[in-house]
Amino acid sequence: MTKVSQVEFVKADNLKVKPDPNSLQFGKVFTDYMFEMDYDIEEGGWHDPKIKPYGPLSLSPASYVLHYGQAVFEGLKAYKQVDGSTVIFRPEKHIARLNTSNERLCIPKIDEKLALDALTQLIELECDWVPEKEGTSLYIRPFVISVEPYLGVRPSYHYKFLIILSPVGAYYSDGQLNPVKIYVEDEFVRAVKGGVGHVKTPGNYAASLLAQEHAQKKGYEQVLWLDGKENKYVEEVGSMNIFFKINGEIYTPKLNGSILPGVTRDSVIELVKVWGIPFHEERISIEDVFEAHKKGELEEVFGTGTAAVISPVGELRWEDKVITINNNETGEFAKKLYDTITGIQYGKIEDKFNWIKKV
Ligand code: COI
Repeated sequence: MTKVSQVEFVKADNLKVKPDPNSLQFGKVFTDYMFEMDYDIEEGGWHDPKIKPYGPLSLSPASYVLHYGQAVFEGLKAYKQVDGSTVIFRPEKHIARLNTSNERLCIPKIDEKLALDALTQLIELECDWVPEKEGTSLYIRPFVISVEPYLGVRPSYHYKFLIILSPVGAYYSDGQLNPVKIYVEDEFVRAVKGGVGHVKTPGNYAASLLAQEHAQKKGYEQVLWLDGKENKYVEEVGSMNIFFKINGEIYTPKLNGSILPGVTRDSVIELVKVWGIPFHEERISIEDVFEAHKKGELEEVFGTGTAAVISPVGELRWEDKVITINNNETGEFAKKLYDTITGIQYGKIEDKFNWIKKV
């Protein structure tokens, strides 16, 4: 197994000018360096880890990933805390999920300690790129692509594991914590049991684009996916998991093999349990959600995700029915979750959960 002490460092000739933290968007600007490691079956596995200047890759047009999409990715964030230190939020959990995705896509697993050390080393080098303004962070995008030039269908023999970094602001253009409008998708499906919905592979996102485009034309930011079999049970939103507050109790769809096990989802569940709020992880039909609204019991709906953090839902449309949630205002509970999670991330609230890894 490759040792992280063997990470080669290639120095950049010039460093870029860093963007204004007040005008950061999501995922448009990239830092000076990236991590890269290769896998070749002939060389006995993963080898030659290096940190090198951020720049284009040279790939054969026959690279496997370009034809059959054998690839996985992760998304996590580094924060500048109020005492000036740089931290990463739950990196071990993200790296473990990367390997779960690798396994499903027949990609050779990566040594998790090595990946974590490489990630930490890259963030340490790029710590001046972690923006200081609240609501901003350094988004970390690890990904693996299959690069063997081969057009037959079988797992590739060659891969690249890369980590790139992007200083970001809010994911949604309306800003953080502002309610979003969501369209309940009733034609297309995102995933089915036994498929790849529970892992982070690019095809899931490519397959969601048409539905998202249709929804956006109707004035909705995102779609809420229903199950792929009966088109009845709530699964997730394209870039986040979903939660409901009904009669003072919290509900989220149970992981069923087609829902992504979000790290922010997991953090929210831990908080809800510690706060002693009744919590239900179960199958939730969209009909029950609309019924709860009719009875005046649907208090809040919010999404959770690394990019989106906590994102209140102000309006839901399902077929010809439209409901407004909490007067299209940010709910108290979503705000409390947002303040607690970001409080821990920015070092204003003690991290009793061991979620933070100092760089
Ligand atoms: C994340 O929340 O990090 C994600 O990967 C969602 C992304 C597609 C923006």
